[in-house]
Amino acid sequence: MSKPQVLVTMKHISEIAINLLRERFDVKICDSMLATRAEILKEIPGKFAIYCSPLTKIDEELIKTAGPSLKVVATFSVGYDHVDLTALKKYGIRFGNTPDVLTETVAETAVGLLISTTRRFSEATHALKTGGWKNVTPDWMCGRGIRNSVVGILGCGNIGTSIAKKLKTFEISQLLYTSRTEKPAVKALGGKLVNVDELVEQSDFIIISIALTEDTKFIINKERIAKMKSHAVLVNIGRGGLIDQDALIEALQENRIGGAGLDVMTPEPLPLDSPLIKMNNVVLLPHIGSATIETRREMAIIVAKNIIAVLDNSAMPYEVLL
Ligand code: DGY
Repeated sequence: MSKPQVLVTMKHISEIAINLLRERFDVKICDSMLATRAEILKEIPGKFAIYCSPLTKIDEELIKTAGPSLKVVATFSVGYDHVDLTALKKYGIRFGNTPDVLTETVAETAVGLLISTTRRFSEATHALKTGGWKNVTPDWMCGRGIRNSVVGILGCGNIGTSIAKKLKTFEISQLLYTSRTEKPAVKALGGKLVNVDELVEQSDFIIISIALTEDTKFIINKERIAKMKSHAVLVNIGRGGLIDQDALIEALQENRIGGAGLDVMTPEPLPLDSPLIKMNNVVLLPHIGSATIETRREMAIIVAKNIIAVLDNSAMPYEVLL
């Protein structure tokens, strides 16, 4: 009897994960490094599962093209704004993601981005590599320190809480956070629960660590950017759609805020003609928040196990209940 089929939309997935899948499935790995929409629509008919990247849009068209064989979608990410959950529910398809294993890694990325943005690491590296390190003066490449500053974390889930713990050791003067409910772990660190407007107005450093949903889209909009301190540094490790990027670009161009460190942006990959690319007060990373060898291996295995669980009609390691 032939095995059920899985479509994998990315190359270079850990062999351990692919082998786990191969024990139970026929595995089709798309030909492109990251499959195009056309490739996915061509390959998806008859598949039992789709093993997808956060750049793979999962919508009703794709589900219908797959047909009734499709039983599970498993994403190689914690975030799932690329997935139409209503459509999955309508067709009775189960859905899994990869939280927890990436919490510390993404929090490390946030702290790294914060330091490299406020201390101007990219700009300084560029100056060094292009002959700008000459007669330096004491104010050359100076930024603001994190010690004694007010740090605001927008969205204090697991990743936000981990960022808070890490930054506490920097001897900050105040920790602010937003959340639907008070977080005992963050309160224990001295964190103060505030609303979004208070957070943007009072923070020297703002870190966005919130999921992108209909409610949080453009949570950092033109009005809120206007309320930020003139030296405020904004870090985003959530999703590009959380920020009105045009308004951010305008504020950065006019030096109305101190800078931005972005691991996520709109669109991804960012076109080379984006004004963000040329800005000195911006540090950009190509969405590598969870990119450590260990974390990516663990994520790959969880995605495979999420799919296998559906074949076995058992509990997924990480299921998003629809
Ligand atoms: C995810 O997995 O959703 C995050 O973007 C990691 O950076």
